[in-house]
Formats: sequence, structure tokens, C-alpha cells
Amino acid sequence: MASHSAHRAQEQPETEDEVSRRTFMVGAVVTVSGIIGLGLAIPIIGGLIPQGTAKTGTWSPLTKAEFGDLETATNTPVKLDFSMTTKDAYLPEETMQDYVWGIKVNPARFRAARPDIFNGPGGKADVPYNVVNMSFVLFSPLCPHLGCRYNWDSAANKFMCPCHGSQYNFDGAHLAGPAPRGLDPLPMREQKGIAELMWIRYQSTTPDRIVISYVS
Ligand code: FES
Repeated sequence: MASHSAHRAQEQPETEDEVSRRTFMVGAVVTVSGIIGLGLAIPIIGGLIPQGTAKTGTWSPLTKAEFGDLETATNTPVKLDFSMTTKDAYLPEETMQDYVWGIKVNPARFRAARPDIFNGPGGKADVPYNVVNMSFVLFSPLCPHLGCRYNWDSAANKFMCPCHGSQYNFDGAHLAGPAPRGLDPLPMREQKGIAELMWIRYQSTTPDRIVISYVS
């Protein structure tokens, strides 16, 4: 008899109070699982980001011959090839070939020519590294508009982008076209007689230089 009443009790419809208490409990469980899931997801997503996107990149050497071309260059930019080793979190090391543009400058003149770079307090550069090293400046080969590769046009004496017509002078200052800023400088240093550069990819279409990665 007792078990019969218990069975009947289970079949009784729930009161409004019981329904809302149950709904609250289900909601709380879903919310807590969501928070736990999010907590787990963040480290997992973090693990998927390539190592190259950490706070800094790796230095890649320029060949001696090419650096020699830059040293003897006067008012013509030099295209400098280099190899870069990248390491994705889950893939084997990969070596990539790329190039940058290098110019030889008078540092004071260059600073005056590029107010878009030296616009911080006291003429501080908007990038966290020295832009002029040993009187040389390296530029990323990617147009700051939408990332196409521009070229030096010696007849026009300008860098020209074939995609939407942005133009830059020898110092990389923006002259014409839709690009939001001048060419982006890259870090360079000298180690035991070898010039090295670091690749940085900047956000396109923005007037500010925002680092988006240290791999190409
Ligand atoms: S990508 Fe160079 S002008 Fe558009």
C-alpha cells in the first residue's frame, strides 16, 4: 500500500513553485557548465595560436652579399631576400623565403620625412624598436592598405602598389592612394658582422601600426 501511495505521489503534477525551482536549478547548472567550459576553452584556444604570435619574433639573417648591396646603395631601395624559420604549435618547423625593402638614410632627414612613424612624445617612434639602425631602414614588403606587395618604380622614383594604386616615396611616406599610413618599418640589428631582421605583420587599413603577428 505504501509503495502504491509513493507511486501516486510521483505522478502528482508539480506545483508552480516546484516548476520554477527546477527551472532555476537547470539554468544554474547550464551557467556553471558554461563558465567551466569557457575556462577550459581559453587555454585550449591559446594552445592553437602559433608560437610565432608571442610577444616577439625571431631574428633572421640577411645574406652578406645583399647587405653589401644595401651598404653601397645611395638613393635606390634594395630588395633583400631572407629565410625565416617558423614553428607552429602542432606542425614541424618550416623555412620560408621572403624579402623586405631596405633603404640607406640620413637619420635626421628620415625622421623629418616620416611624421607618421615618429609621432610619439618627443618624436618617439610608434613601434617598440629602433627604426633607423646603422643608417639603414627596412620596410615590410606588404602595402599597409590591404597587404599587396608593392614595387619600386625607378622611372617614377616611387614605391607603387599594383592593387589599388597607393604610392610612397623613397622614405616610405604615403603620397597617394587609399593606404592609411606610410610603409611599415621592421626591426633590424647587427650581430657579429651579420645584419638580421625581424618579421612583423601589421594590421592593414588602420592609421595606427598594430602588430597582428610575428609570422608571415
Ligand atoms: S593593397 Fe596596396 S593600394 Fe591596396
